[in-house]
Amino acid sequence: MQNVTRLCQTKNIVTVNGKFPGPRIIAREGDRLVIKVVNNVQHNVTIHWHGVRQLRSGWADGPAYITQCPIQRGQSYVYNFTITGQRGTLFWHAHISWLRVTLYGPIVILPKKGVAYPFPQPFKEVPILFGEWWKADTEKIINQALQTGGPPNISDAYTINGLPGLLYNCSAKDTFKLKVKPGKTYLLRVVNAALNDELFFSIANHNLTVVEVDAVYVKPFNTNIILITPGQTTNILLKTKHFHPNATFLMSARPYATGPASFDNSTTTGILEYHQHSNNTKKSNKFPLLKPKLPIFNDTTFATSFVKKIRSLANAKFPANVPKKVDKQFFFTVGLGLNPCPKNQTCQGPNNTKLAASVNNVSFVQPNVALLQSHYFNQSKGVYTTDFPVNPPFKFNYTGNPPNNTFVTSGTKVVVLPFNTSVELVMQDTSIISAESHPLHLHGFNFFVVGQGFGNYNSSKDPANFNFVDPAERNTVGVPSGGWVAIRFLADNPGVWFMHCHLEVHTSWGLKMVWMVNDGKGPKQKLPPPPADLPKC
Ligand code: C2O
Repeated sequence: MQNVTRLCQTKNIVTVNGKFPGPRIIAREGDRLVIKVVNNVQHNVTIHWHGVRQLRSGWADGPAYITQCPIQRGQSYVYNFTITGQRGTLFWHAHISWLRVTLYGPIVILPKKGVAYPFPQPFKEVPILFGEWWKADTEKIINQALQTGGPPNISDAYTINGLPGLLYNCSAKDTFKLKVKPGKTYLLRVVNAALNDELFFSIANHNLTVVEVDAVYVKPFNTNIILITPGQTTNILLKTKHFHPNATFLMSARPYATGPASFDNSTTTGILEYHQHSNNTKKSNKFPLLKPKLPIFNDTTFATSFVKKIRSLANAKFPANVPKKVDKQFFFTVGLGLNPCPKNQTCQGPNNTKLAASVNNVSFVQPNVALLQSHYFNQSKGVYTTDFPVNPPFKFNYTGNPPNNTFVTSGTKVVVLPFNTSVELVMQDTSIISAESHPLHLHGFNFFVVGQGFGNYNSSKDPANFNFVDPAERNTVGVPSGGWVAIRFLADNPGVWFMHCHLEVHTSWGLKMVWMVNDGKGPKQKLPPPPADLPKC
């Protein structure tokens, strides 16, 4: 634990090695990482290596009660995995309750030794992590929200590398500063680790070139503004110009929000500061801080056009291996819903209900043992069932008026996939409470975003427009508000893989499900036994 002061209020937060944000992990493609996590705090803890494929190392994936029981106070667990076929930026974060609010840090994966980037070698590389800050205790906030059924209190600030920046009260000294030299190329490794908000980001007077998302190179494109959802990572090149020494520019991020829920419509800022020669140290006030222009909070037009620009490199060196044939098709509705209020209780959801969220109307119930263990040792009884619906239980106009009964069902239901199943999954946003964009994250795989659109998905028309040539390959994709997205992935990784909305409040409400991928027959197609120190529940 560590005392940290932000917005003039001191708070005791959970940290890794006393650092907030947490330490940076730097590795190379092909490296094996061995990370011992020792729990010295009151909370149960797990760590997830977000976006790391974990090929046959599912025991190291980290989501609590999915691949492991939590590490309890006084215990430790060694996460042991190899980074295979990935290079770029990912991040690690706690994967239990809302602890990731302060437990997160970047994972920088460099190319193999002697291998260059497919873009100009940067002069310097800088991680930029967005976060979210509450003055109050976030564990109390979410627990209370879940009990009463209402929405949790919104955050008090967004942060850049843990700092809210000078647009918040009592925060001017807590502003991230990036000192740059003119005429150089910087690689910004941008991570959205915020709990509940997608963010727009821009730097005044500067062009940004997107070169990689979710640790996959993309066709470079220029933009003034990026959109990044929680769970996504974006590498951008920043070319500095020939400004006067001490010229300063603001970089800022603020939410893209489509739901009705109130959100913190504030802006986090950092400063880009030019430095030239050491004899030019005289501070000058001649150059005012220039502010970047960001879209308004619900600018879906910008969001859509930005997302469409993201294309795989799809060349000989970095091919886009989109599964050509499909073995199994799934259609999932994702969205908010309601639970009945328990008898003799008053609830704060609409019409005395509790807010919930679901996939195909199933609100996922977290088991109290880890699913991967139950699966591995064939002990499903009383833990999970394999009857997750492959289609929504009832059809309606998903983007129009919701049906009368909007209650969700609850259960620990999983989809079982034979090894190497090629999956096509369409995820459709629903408007039961309201339409809202959902950044869906899949553990254990990258997927290809082959199509997306607004309104109801039309299975006889829409596939004709799918992109199998250079679709974005990633681990987190925004299901558009009032729309759908189609992805493909090859289930070539045996284990138990979580899929959930990376808006933490939606995960808490049940917008999550599990893919159980069976072993294959070959020796390299089986999940090895669990490590001896795997925590017990
Ligand atoms: Cu970044 Cu399951 O999470």
